[in-house]
Order: sequence, then structure tokens, then C-alpha cells
Amino acid sequence: MCGIVGYIGRQKAINVLIDGLERLEYRGYDSAGITVIENNQLFTRKKAGKVSDLKKILDGIELKSNIGIAHTRWATHGEPNDKNAHPHSDNSGNIVIVHNGIIENYKAIKKTLTDKGYFFRSDTDSEILAVFIGYIYNKVKDLEEAVRLALSEVDGTFGLVVLSSYEPDKMIAARRGSPMVCGVGENEYILASDTSAIIKHTRNVIYLSDNEMITLSYNGIQTKTIDNQITDNQIHHIDFEISQIEKGGFEHFMLKEIFEQAQTVQDAFRGRLQVNEGTVRLGGLRSVAEVLKNAKRIIFTACGTSWHSALVGEYIIENLCNISVEVEYASEFRYRNPVIYPDDVVIAISQSGETADTLAALREAKKKSATVLGVVNVVGSSIARDTDAGVYIHAGPEIGVASTKAFTSQLTVLILIAIYIGRMRGISLPDGLKLTQALSELPKKIEEVLKTADDIKAIAKEYCNARNFLYLGRGYNFPVALEGALKLKEISYIHAEGYPAAEMKHGPIALIDENMPVVFIATKDEIYDKVISNIEEVKARKGKVIAIATEGDEQIKQYANHVIYIPETIPMLTPILSVIPLQLLAYYIAVELGCNVDQPRNLAKSVTVE
Ligand code: M6R
Repeated sequence: MCGIVGYIGRQKAINVLIDGLERLEYRGYDSAGITVIENNQLFTRKKAGKVSDLKKILDGIELKSNIGIAHTRWATHGEPNDKNAHPHSDNSGNIVIVHNGIIENYKAIKKTLTDKGYFFRSDTDSEILAVFIGYIYNKVKDLEEAVRLALSEVDGTFGLVVLSSYEPDKMIAARRGSPMVCGVGENEYILASDTSAIIKHTRNVIYLSDNEMITLSYNGIQTKTIDNQITDNQIHHIDFEISQIEKGGFEHFMLKEIFEQAQTVQDAFRGRLQVNEGTVRLGGLRSVAEVLKNAKRIIFTACGTSWHSALVGEYIIENLCNISVEVEYASEFRYRNPVIYPDDVVIAISQSGETADTLAALREAKKKSATVLGVVNVVGSSIARDTDAGVYIHAGPEIGVASTKAFTSQLTVLILIAIYIGRMRGISLPDGLKLTQALSELPKKIEEVLKTADDIKAIAKEYCNARNFLYLGRGYNFPVALEGALKLKEISYIHAEGYPAAEMKHGPIALIDENMPVVFIATKDEIYDKVISNIEEVKARKGKVIAIATEGDEQIKQYANHVIYIPETIPMLTPILSVIPLQLLAYYIAVELGCNVDQPRNLAKSVTVE
């Protein structure tokens, strides 16, 4: 979604801002803009389209300023055009803002301001905030105080940076619900909605908390709450490398991230897996170990791919821990007055740690006194900070909008959690040993799966013109079918449905004819024979079968048009292997169709609005 960069320091602001915007492009956006303070005057340019379009209109303009703000917008209120792009200014043109989030009471504020003779140029809620700050500034003549007072009146969410020619040596930022990080460099500060825009300059950052604001000048920074209480912020160190947010020779981030999975799965269990003791060590859960041991119910809440991970987690935890598990879409959970007991454990799963619905769902669970845990990738993100305890998945930055490595790392961490709880609740040592050993062997097996890429590319060429796909799997591989279908529709815009294989005859079977490719996850487990029966039903109707099967399974060749083999592992670990061919299939089909794989249309990497 929208991205923010702000800079104050010794470098030319324009260079830092444009580089920052380019680093944020992966989040998905439809317009971009900048403001710098040049000779005490605001200089603004904004443009619908890509950062490259903005660069074109800045070409040849010499900007020496050391202070500025920039934005990539993902439209919520008002279509993506030049007028609605950020920065937005107040009526005097002397105050500008960039804003992420939604101002929910914008209509009421707009009416008050319109009645007083103020005007608006765009269709955005953000401009109303800019005009409102300007209105208050006219009364208090102090920028920080004007921002603070305006934000006290605002309902909704914001990550906000304000710049003004009235006080040209200052920049003010604030957050509620939308992330805002301040990089603390040597004689410079970089504000951003995402650390990717910061790490080129410094690894030392301050994470703003909700309802906190920061005032930056050339001499230093000061933080306070919107209620005017001075706050004291710790500096955190970001430990990822700049190479992790670059393509490293791959054509797309998504392909790079698919190929990183042997490493990222290993990173998810490194230092945690105790293979010789058949158990795991999870420092992040130590404080809630007793709660987990005695839990009667676990509720997972998540969106999208993270919700698919939760479904696999449900099967695994029920199996290993004998605890009842429910899986809830965060967007439904937050609004439906769910029954939650104080001894419930609610686990929010999120790659970004910023998904608005997931954040709201966990806050709802907290209000109802449940223990709330996080399974999160982005360190220091809102969900990670708002949970009682949790486990990072350590997948490193995921830039491709379609989630790949985060999914397999989430699954790895969910298995670790299941073993952790299960061993406290009675999994035997031999079973623990079997599980931890199998987990430790996965990275090598992932390498094997990745070797099938060329075969999958050939299949992609053959089926890229199909208009519909069906993905079917059972048990642990039912969520994988959902995930395979989601990957395909996200990046290739081909319609795809995922179903439990046995559900096919309750409806989707009507769709099957010679034009329908059906992807089966048919690995060897206790329901393998049932899946074979489902494949036969598809074949009988002339459907084209692409099967993901276990190495050594020769029988399946008689039913399937194409077989992709994955190494054998214990059934509950198969999703970590079986999803990889599906990620590759979606990727190669999208490339074949000429789609923008890393930034698919309409999608944002981190969905920070409802
Ligand atoms: O950052 P999160 O894991 O909370 O994001 C949840 C979904 O928005 C995300 O998984 C989305 O479905 C991806 N585009 C899937 O590829």
C-alpha cells in the first residue's frame, strides 16, 4: 500500500527520497510525489503512474534542498490521478503532508472547514487533514502544536509526515495504525513507512508507537504522544542486508524468493530445533509456556496466504497437541463479536505484521482477555509489538507481492510451535525425534523440488492460455490447493479455485471438460487412494491432470497428464514441499503471459487499510 519517505540531513534530499520511493515500489501503488524545501519555499511535483514517471518530470531540475518528503499512493478515496497524488497542501500552500491510512471522520471535518470558507482540490481524505492542519496553524502559529491538535480530532489511521515553509528546518511525523519508522544516521534522519527505504543509510531505527509523534530538525529529534507527553524511544538495530532487498541476478523478486526457500526454512528453525532431544526451543514463547500447556483452544486469525498457513497449523496442532483449533479470517473475526474465553490463545499470523484486519482482530481478542501471540516476519512491526509473545519466522524481506517464502517459513514455525506445545502435553520422545529429524532434512528436499523448475516451465507454456484452473488436495494439502490457486490468480489473472479434493463432486465437477487443467496434490499418505479416485473422476471427464506426487510413485503416471515429483517426508511436512511446484507454476504462467509478476495489478504487499 502507500509508502512514505522523509529526509532531513546533509545529503540532497531529492536523491534519498527517489531512492526510497523506488525501494517501496514493491508495496504496490498508483501515483507518486515529492516536496522539498528549496530556498525556504515548498517545491512539489506529483504524478499518476510509476516513480519513473515522476522522475521524468523532475529531469533537469536542480534541487539542492536537504529536507523533503515523498509518497507512493495506493488509491482509497479518489481515483489514481495527478490531483489525488500526495503530497497534499493546505489552502495557503505553505504546509504539505504525505499520509498513509484513512481519515474516517473526513466528511465532518470537511464540512466544518467548507463552512469556514476553506476549499479542496482533490477527492482525498488526506487533503482534508492537510487543510485542517493549516486551519489550526493559523490560530496557534506553531507547526508541531498544529499537527498535534489536528490529530487529536482525527478518527481513523495515519502514518503522516508534515513539512512547512513556515518552519523550514523541521519535519513532523506521527502514526496511528500505519507504520512509521525513523532511521537515525550520522547527522541525518530518514523517516519511512518501511525499513527497506532506510537501510541504505542506517540500520539504527526508532519505531514510532501508535499515537506518537516525532519532530525532526537538523539538530536532533524529539518524540511525544498526541496527548502531549514526552516519550523516550529505544534505538533498535535492523539486521538484514541490502542484498536481501535486491534481485541478486534473478529476473523477478518472486523467483528469487521461491529459490531462497531452502535457506529461509532453515533460518526459521535455526537455533530452535533440538534434533537430539526431539524438541524445540522457542525463547519467544517462554513467558507463555504454562498458558500454552493448559490451553483448551487456539484460534488462528490471519488473511490471505497467512490464513492458508493457519489452516495447515490447525491440522498439525490438533494432531500433535490434542487442542481444539479454529481458524478465522481476521476481517470476519474483528466484527462478529466472537466468543473468546480468557484461557483461549489467539495466534495472529502475518508476514508484514501490518495487515489492518489482523491487527484489529488481535486487539479485539486482547480486549476479551485472551493470550495473544504473533507469528510474524517483519521485526518491530505493529502486530509483533502488540502481541503478548510470539515467534518471528525470519524469512527476511519479502518483496514480491505474492507471498512465497513467508508461507513455507510460517509453516515451519507452526510445526515448531506444535512440537513445543505437543512435547509439554505428551508427544513421546520417539515421535518428537522423528518430527525434528524430518524437519531438519527439509532444506535439502526443497533443493530437490527446485530442480523441477524447468519441467514446470514447460507445463506452464502448455497451459498458460487456459482461462480456469482447479486445484485439489486433501488433509494437510487442502490448504496448499487454496494457496496454489491464490498464487495463480494473483499474478496471472487466470481464474482459479482451490477445493478439498472430495468436495469436487459436490459442485466443481460440473466445470470439468477437456479445457480444464486440474492440479492435484496427490502425495503418498493415508488418503492417497482416495485422491487417486478423485483424479480418475477428472480423467473420466477429459480434464487435464497435473499431479504433484511423491518420488517413486509410478502408479500415478497412468492417471495424470503431467507429474511433478517431490521427495518423501512425513505427511504433515509435505505442504512445505508441495507448495513450491505450485508457486513455480503460477510464476512461469504469469511470465509467459507477460504479467508484472512482482507488482500485480490492484494488489498491495501490505494491506494497511480495511
Ligand atoms: O502480511 P500478511 O501476511 O498479513 O498479509 C496477508 C495477505 O494480505 C497476503 O498473504 C496476501 O494474500 C498475499 N498477496 C498473498 O500472496
